[in-house]
This record gives sequence, C-alpha cells and structure tokens, in this order.
Amino acid sequence: MKEIAVIGTGYVGLVTAAGFSDLGNRVIALDVDEAKIAGLNKGQMPIYEPGLEEMVARNVAAERLFFTTSYPEALKNAEFVFIAVGTPEGVDGEADLKYVRSAAVSIAKAMVGPLIVINKSTVPVGTGDWVADIISSEEKEPIPFSVVSCPEFLREGSALLDFMNPARTVLGSTDSDAAEKVAQLHLPLRAPIVITNLRTAEMIKYASNAFLATKISFINEIANICEELGADVKEVSSGMGYDPRIGSHFLDAGLGYGGSCFPKDVKALAHMAAEKGRHPQLLQAVMDINLDRHRLLIERTENLLGSLNEKTIGLLGLTFKPNTDDIREAPSLDLARLLMEKGAKIRAFDPAGMPRTKQEMPEIEMAENAYELARDCDALLVCTEWNEFKHLDLARIREVMRCPVIVDGRNIYDPKKMSEVGFHYRGVGRGYGPDGQPVNSSPEPR
Ligand SMILES: NC(=O)c1ccc[n+]([C@@H]2O[C@H](COP(=O)([O-])OP(=O)(O)OC[C@H]3O[C@@H](n4cnc5c(N)ncnc54)[C@H](O)[C@@H]3O)[C@@H](O)[C@H]2O)c1
Repeated sequence: MKEIAVIGTGYVGLVTAAGFSDLGNRVIALDVDEAKIAGLNKGQMPIYEPGLEEMVARNVAAERLFFTTSYPEALKNAEFVFIAVGTPEGVDGEADLKYVRSAAVSIAKAMVGPLIVINKSTVPVGTGDWVADIISSEEKEPIPFSVVSCPEFLREGSALLDFMNPARTVLGSTDSDAAEKVAQLHLPLRAPIVITNLRTAEMIKYASNAFLATKISFINEIANICEELGADVKEVSSGMGYDPRIGSHFLDAGLGYGGSCFPKDVKALAHMAAEKGRHPQLLQAVMDINLDRHRLLIERTENLLGSLNEKTIGLLGLTFKPNTDDIREAPSLDLARLLMEKGAKIRAFDPAGMPRTKQEMPEIEMAENAYELARDCDALLVCTEWNEFKHLDLARIREVMRCPVIVDGRNIYDPKKMSEVGFHYRGVGRGYGPDGQPVNSSPEPR
C-alpha cells in the first residue's frame, strides 16, 4: 500500500485515482474546482466514464480514496504525486502550461517530505525539467524530490479498462531510483514497462498520438480517392487491417479525429518542431486533411438538399466518440456552426453529450431520442458512432423525416440497405456509380 496524491480530477486524474486506489493504495485526489470536489464527496461523478462511478464508490467506502481541495492535506503523507491537470491549446498551437505551472508551485509550497512528482499530463518535451526547476525555486525549504514522466495513453470511453490493461507503461526520469519506484507502483498492471529519459518519455506520448492521427487522416485521404474510383473504403480498410504491419485500429474513414487530445497534441508537436526551425510537413497534412472532413460533409449535404437555408438538420451524435460525454473538439459542433452559417436550423440527439452541448451551444435544439430527432428533419447527419444508432428502426426514421436524407459521417450503415428503405444516403469513401447507387454494398456487420 502506497500513499498517493493525484492533482486534477478530470478524465485522466479521476481514473488514475480510482485505479490506483482499486489496486489497494491510499489515494487523495485533489482539484481546484470546489464544486467538482463537493460533488465527488457526495458520490456525484463530474464526467461519464463506464464503470467509474462504481469503482469510485467502492474505494471511497473502503477508505482508500479521498477527495480534497487542500494541497497540504493531499501531500501530508504522500510518497507519490501525479500531476493530471489539463494542457489545452495555447494561442499559437503550443500547449498552454499554466495549469501545470500552478500545480507545480502548489506542490512546492505544500510538500513536507521527500516526494516523487509524476507528470501524467501531456506536456511539451522539456517540461519535466521545467517542473523540477519550478519546484526547486518555490520550495520553502530544500526537500528532496524527483520528477518522473509517465504519459497517459487511456482512451475516453474505455478509460478504466485501459488503466487496468495498459499496452505499456512509459516512464522517463533522470533519477533511476525514482523511475524504479514508479515502475513498482505499476507492476500489478502487468504491462511492459519502458524506462527512458524524461524528454524521450514526453516525446513518446506526442509521437504516439501524432501517429494515430496520421492513420486517421491517411484513411480519409484514401476515402477521397475511393470515391473517385468507385471503391469502398470500408472494405479497403478491413482488407488492409488484417496485415499485422498495418493493424485495423484507427483506420475508419469518416469525419476525422476530434476530442481533447489529438487535435491539440498534433498542433503542439508541429509547434515544437517549427520553433526549432523544422518544417513538419506530414503533421501539417494530417491537420489539413482532418479539417477538410467537416467541409466535405457539408458539401455532401448541400449536394443532396440544395440550399441549406431554413432547412432543419438533425445531428445524430454530439460527442467526439461513443461512450463518453466529452464534446471537446467534437466534429459535430464544428458542423453545427458551419450549417448554421448557411441558415440551417440544428437539432441533435446524443446519449451522453447533450448536457455539455446545451451549455456550449444553447442554440441547438435537443431531442429526446433518435426518432424524435428525425421528425420533420430535412437531413440527418451521423456524427458519432454510438452502438445504439447502428440498429435503429430505419423505416420508422424515414417515415417521420420531411426529406429522407442521411449523410453518414461514420459509415455505420450499409448503403444498399439504406437505399432499399428509401433513403438518399451518402457515407464516406464508398464509391457510387453514375446513377447515384453504391457500386459496392458492404457485408453484414462483423
Ligand atoms: N482525456 C484523455 O483522454 C487524455 C488521455 C491521455 C492524456 N490526456 C492528458 O491528460 C491531461 C489531463 O486531461 P483531462 O482530459 O483529464 O483534463 P480535464 O480538463 O478533464 O481535467 C483537468 C482537471 O485539472 C483541474 N486543475 C486545473 N488546474 C489545477 C491545479 N492547479 N490544481 C489542481 N487541479 C487543477 C481542473 O479543474 C480539471 O478538473 C492533459 O494533459 C491531457 O492532454 C488526456
């Protein structure tokens, strides 16, 4: 049993705190957001993540997991402190480190004994050294401490599963004893542990996210070519994905990547490169292709409907991916803005993303379910591939729509079946013949 403090109770911090407490450690999770901590102390989750509420409740009841806003309380007995605060995009595409700085200063002022400071936030290469400098200069008295980088690779929507079954743990430090202690903390997770220096660990995180974003933009580029040549990108990616050198993950053509990580992390990596005089052309192309996806879907809708002025468009899905309530950088919101600029009225339904969207874009009208959403819509745009959208009663949807148009930004439907039901249907990267019919229908879902 180790004494651990976790700074930040967002998607990463709360999962880290819950996960380490579930492994038998005593964890105090801290946030500067008083409302969040008050809610957590009443058992209210600030985010939706499958299984999180149960895991938090179990460990709170077992007196292994605590929540506070007080740094002295969190650090009183801590041997390890994880920094898991946000690192949003700055004005020029760089990572904004104000929350990391503030966490480092607060740690320095509150620490009372030797401490291993573990950085889980995604931070630019060199930040570990910078955090060490901040703590050294802000400490009240010289207390030994070490900084270890331990980047986080969890996916929202399956964050607890990923915490408990990581593909690898990456640790970087100049202090090999500290890295070894952090490795011990992760041993119960039985994943390969890569121990390297601070800067390399920080780079592994950016390189991993940039690579995954590149796969998505790659398959979207292939989708564009498929459309011109009459091929079906769904079949192309499944044919490619069986090759272990390629792999099937992140090869789904569609609306492109969104969320709180890929967009800002690719930008931040490009910014780091540019600052050093490098021209990150591949990263630039990845970002350009991704941005084009939204415009493409709007064009596709216009091709089917004509002018969008005064048309009612329903967004099926709001979150940037299924099984989360996170709408940060969700393609749906950018689409909504672009459609509204063209005079369209926007309605939406999402199983988890509506409360946050209402706060950010109150002008979007929310529906109670997919069928209510479809009522009197001129077109439906599939923005998120929630499982519950895959087996809707499409005949019922068609019946209530003003105009039976579906533009499927996630390729969740079979074009042939959709035209049988009577829809004007367009997916992404699925070749169509001159008669507007798909040249290739996809097989039953596997
Ligand atoms: N969300 C993901 O899927 C994911 C995955 C891997 C890595 N990351 C990285 O992890 C980091 C955290 O991401 P997130 O999505 O959990 O962020 P988040 O915005 O959900 O949560 C951050 C939390 O930190 C708190 N905070 C800010 N400043 C603080 C301070 N000085 N002291 C204490 N608390 C403070 C905020 O109130 C907030 O609750 C980011 O660097 C992100 O890039 C995120």
